[in-house]
Amino acid sequence: MYGGYIMKRKGRLFFYQQIDSTNLQAKRLAEQGAQDGTVVWALDQRCGRGRLGKKWASAAGRGVYLSFVLRPRVDFADYARITLVAGVAVARFLKKELGESAEKIALKWPNDLLVEGKKIAGILAEAAAPGAGYTPFVIVGIGVNIFHEREDFPTDISSLATSLFLETGKKPQGLQPLVRSLQQHLHNCVADFERGLFPQLLAEWRGMDYLYGKKIECVAVDGRVVTGVALGPDETGVLFLEDSSGCRHEILSGDLRLAIEKPPVKQGQDS
Ligand code: BTN
Repeated sequence: MYGGYIMKRKGRLFFYQQIDSTNLQAKRLAEQGAQDGTVVWALDQRCGRGRLGKKWASAAGRGVYLSFVLRPRVDFADYARITLVAGVAVARFLKKELGESAEKIALKWPNDLLVEGKKIAGILAEAAAPGAGYTPFVIVGIGVNIFHEREDFPTDISSLATSLFLETGKKPQGLQPLVRSLQQHLHNCVADFERGLFPQLLAEWRGMDYLYGKKIECVAVDGRVVTGVALGPDETGVLFLEDSSGCRHEILSGDLRLAIEKPPVKQGQDS
C-alpha cells in the first residue's frame, strides 16, 4: 500500500459530442494538471484508438467512449497493473448489465472483454512518467459496445464483435447512467488497488480468464511468433505461455490469437 489513506476521486467530467479520441483529450488535460478522477466522455470519436496502434471503431452514439485521468497512489512501477484492475471493473459493470448472461463474460489478456468469444469492450491504458511540471498519471480509456446492431460494426470485425443490445435484446435507457456505473466500478477497483488488494483483483480476473489452458499463438511486438498454452497473468501483469517442450515464456505485449490446431498428418498422406 502507498500512503496512509484513500482519498475519494473527484475530478470533473468533460463531455463532447465529438472528439478525436477521448484518450488523447484526457492526456492533454492531464498534462495541463487535470485532477485525478477527471473523466472525458464523447458520443463520437473521429480517431478512436485501440492497442498496438489499431483503430477503435466508434459508431456515433452507439457506445460508451470514456477516458479517465488517474493518478493512483501506488508506485509508478505498479501502474502497469492498471489494465487488469480496469478489466475487473469493466467485467463487473458488464455482469450487472447482462443479468442472467453475466456468466458469459470473459477477459482476454490484456485488455479485451468478451461474451462467448466476441468482443464487447476494450481498454487502452497509457501511462506517463513524471514530466516537466506534472506528477505521473495513467489514462484509462474504455470503449463498450452498447446499442450496436450488427451493421454498426465495420465489416471486417462484424462477426467478431458484439454489444449489450445484441446480447440482451434490450436497449438500455441512455448512456449517462452507464457512464456513471462504469465510473463507480472503476473507482471501487482503483481504491482496492491502492489499498493493496491487487492479489484479490487478480484472482477475480483469473476467474474470468478466456485464454487459460488454451493453446495460443502470440505475435510479439518484434514479429516473433510464440506458441504455447496460456497460464494466465502473474502479479506483475505479465502473461505466461508454456510451449510444447515445457519452456515458459513471458509475454509483455503483442497480439494474441487461439492457435489453429492442424489435423495430424497420416502416414503416407501427401502433406
Ligand atoms: C482495444 O481494444 O484495443 C482498446 C480499445 C479502447 C477504446 C477506447 S474508446 C475510449 C478511449 N479513447 C480511445 O481513443 N480509445 C479508448
